[in-house]
Amino acid sequence: MTQPSRLAIVPFVSVDSMMKLVLAVGVERFLTELVAYVEEDFLRWEAFDKTPRVASHSHDGVIELMPTSDGTLYGFKYVNGHPKNMREGRQTVTAFGVLADVGSGYPMLLTEMTMLTALRTAATSAVAAKYLAPKGARTMAIIGNGAQSEFQAVAFKAIVGIDTVRLYDIDRSASEKCARNLAGLGLETVICASGQEAVEGADIITTVTADKQYATILTDNMVGSGVHINAVGGDCPGKTELHRDILLRSDIFVEYPPQTRIEGEIQQLAPDHPVTELWQVMTGKAEGRTATKQITLFDSVGFATEDFSALRYVRDKLASTGFYEELDLLADPDEPRDLFGMLLRAAKS
Ligand SMILES: NC(=O)c1ccc[n+]([C@@H]2O[C@H](COP(=O)([O-])OP(=O)(O)OC[C@H]3O[C@@H](n4cnc5c(N)ncnc54)[C@H](O)[C@@H]3O)[C@@H](O)[C@H]2O)c1
Repeated sequence: MTQPSRLAIVPFVSVDSMMKLVLAVGVERFLTELVAYVEEDFLRWEAFDKTPRVASHSHDGVIELMPTSDGTLYGFKYVNGHPKNMREGRQTVTAFGVLADVGSGYPMLLTEMTMLTALRTAATSAVAAKYLAPKGARTMAIIGNGAQSEFQAVAFKAIVGIDTVRLYDIDRSASEKCARNLAGLGLETVICASGQEAVEGADIITTVTADKQYATILTDNMVGSGVHINAVGGDCPGKTELHRDILLRSDIFVEYPPQTRIEGEIQQLAPDHPVTELWQVMTGKAEGRTATKQITLFDSVGFATEDFSALRYVRDKLASTGFYEELDLLADPDEPRDLFGMLLRAAKS
């Protein structure tokens, strides 16, 4: 068998390599560095080719493709969302993605993105909170203590200065798992018996549950003035977490309105209900938090540029860390038009 040429090779980051990379950098530092990439791309929002993600809905979940480009690089993520998976021993969300060179169209990176999605979602939530949460926020409630939850906790510690997380999940063992995983990471954890108890004294409320329905994780009476809500789990048509009355009392901040109107909490509101784009707050074009009593709501659904930022970050880390394999992904005949000849020669070698 002949060896693949240099042009045939694409760096591949497996789950094993991703974990080694994250651990070598350190989870908190990884999140902090990733936040810088996410911020950098939000700040040049207008440079991106943007489209709502392409979603294929089914009875049990959704499979989505999330493409974007800044004209130099192109990235996409394949991601699913299947709340029932967890009960069958599978992840609710799995993903992989590609970064490519726009000039040649050649892929430059193929990577697992299940870990990376949890990291980038937490990084994006932390970026939003950095601009919107009340100053001096120290306590965060996390409702839904599944796969994403610890990543959210660590990101909010690193970026916002959270020192206490109040955990609630309908399955107490999930909260116990979350508290166990966070032990020794510099966060105080309090396991709560209800969502109501979890939000008591919280400056920030993160909802990150998985349920394929219009759920009511937070009712209006649970949300006091001045809090920042980081609503992560409502991210599909027919899948929301907040009572509509909360939305009517909040100033709502979103990633990309054409996608969030379909998928976010705001699907419960009129299509012209005012929302502010996060990038506009970050660039100073729009106001974020202006009053201490204001309720700010980041209606997160996850947008392609955030995955693009994560892909860029991982690509930039490869050379110095070496946590990747070389994948023979692209056919590279000696003479570009002789693809068939390459096939014939393979039979002889
Ligand atoms: N916005 C984004 O960018 C983004 C990115 C990734 C995942 N998500 C969403 O985040 C959610 C969580 O993902 P995950 O991977 O952690 O899922 P998961 O299945 O691992 O965990 C979900 C947890 O929510 C709990 N839960 C369900 N209903 C609840 C309720 N009514 N009250 C309290 N807890 C409840 C479950 O017991 C489970 O522990 C999913 O809905 C997923 O689609 C959003």
